[in-house]
Amino acid sequence: MENTSVVKRIGVFTSGGDAPGMNACIRAVVRSCIYYDLEVFGIRRGYSGMIEGDIFRMNSRSVSGIIQRGGTILKSARSEEFRTKEGRKKAYEKLQQHLIDAIVVIGGDGSFTGASIFEEEFGVKVIGIPGTIDNDLLGTDLTIGYDTATNTAVEAIDKIKDTADAHDRLFFVEVMGRDAGFIALKSGISCGAEAILIPEEEQSIDELIETLRRGRPSKNSSIVVVAEGDELGGAIEIAKKVNEEFKQYETKVTILGHLQRGGSPTCVDRVLASRLGLAGVEALRDGKSGFMVGVIDNKIAFTPLSEAIKHGPELADDLIRLAKIISI
Ligand code: F6P
Repeated sequence: MENTSVVKRIGVFTSGGDAPGMNACIRAVVRSCIYYDLEVFGIRRGYSGMIEGDIFRMNSRSVSGIIQRGGTILKSARSEEFRTKEGRKKAYEKLQQHLIDAIVVIGGDGSFTGASIFEEEFGVKVIGIPGTIDNDLLGTDLTIGYDTATNTAVEAIDKIKDTADAHDRLFFVEVMGRDAGFIALKSGISCGAEAILIPEEEQSIDELIETLRRGRPSKNSSIVVVAEGDELGGAIEIAKKVNEEFKQYETKVTILGHLQRGGSPTCVDRVLASRLGLAGVEALRDGKSGFMVGVIDNKIAFTPLSEAIKHGPELADDLIRLAKIISI
């Protein structure tokens, strides 16, 4: 195949919070580059590794046997230094030493903000691939890792429900999602939670207590799923406030935390990551830069990085409504 690509040497890295499926995406990027006869380089530890020049040539075998693994073989980091102009200049120089003319960043909003500035300042061609369990990027129906994280939360909450039932307890389960309630809403609906608290919707403690009170005469145990970014506070704080007014029931708190970030990616995440990896490389090859590649209505879609970071998509109102109606 004649190499008509605008770019010749591509660097790939993972940045920000890791997400299951990142390895599947790295694999797709590397193998797509090889398919198109482009040289591909791995950059370890995100922007931090770029600044330090932790860059190495990859081949098809570098990504063997990783599609099913959580975490990221390239490791990840949140770099303070890359926020500074000097840091970005160092990173650019390291890319130049390897004659890398384009980068694929697999990450979330913080990573894309950095990539966008970097492109503007130094003219490095950039494509972003949404890799975050939060699902909080505009321009894609799903981000890599979200499906796996939600299923992990569901599995955990189901187990908590068993013990909650056994002891007639009221459990508050905190799931991840700093600014977005996607994991909370989906896992809460899937597990039959009595209430779901998400940052997108205001709910007072009184309203929550009222909801729980209504259900209590016929229910022995209850589960409240709390997104960590809820405006009422984290699960510990909320449980304390509820317990003050609701003393007759024993209250427990479980914070699922980083458990949701690990584990083998689901089929949905593996396929999504693979599709986005190929689409990202093809976009760079065609001369596209400054975009995030996502999937909307099951079709590949491109959104400027500056738009993608605007915290979308909105949580579906019908799901919020559904959760309330069927939790009685
Ligand atoms: O952005 C992904 C995420 O897991 C959020 O849901 C969470 O708030 C945050 O990262 C935790 O970050 P860290 O691993 O740095 O504590």
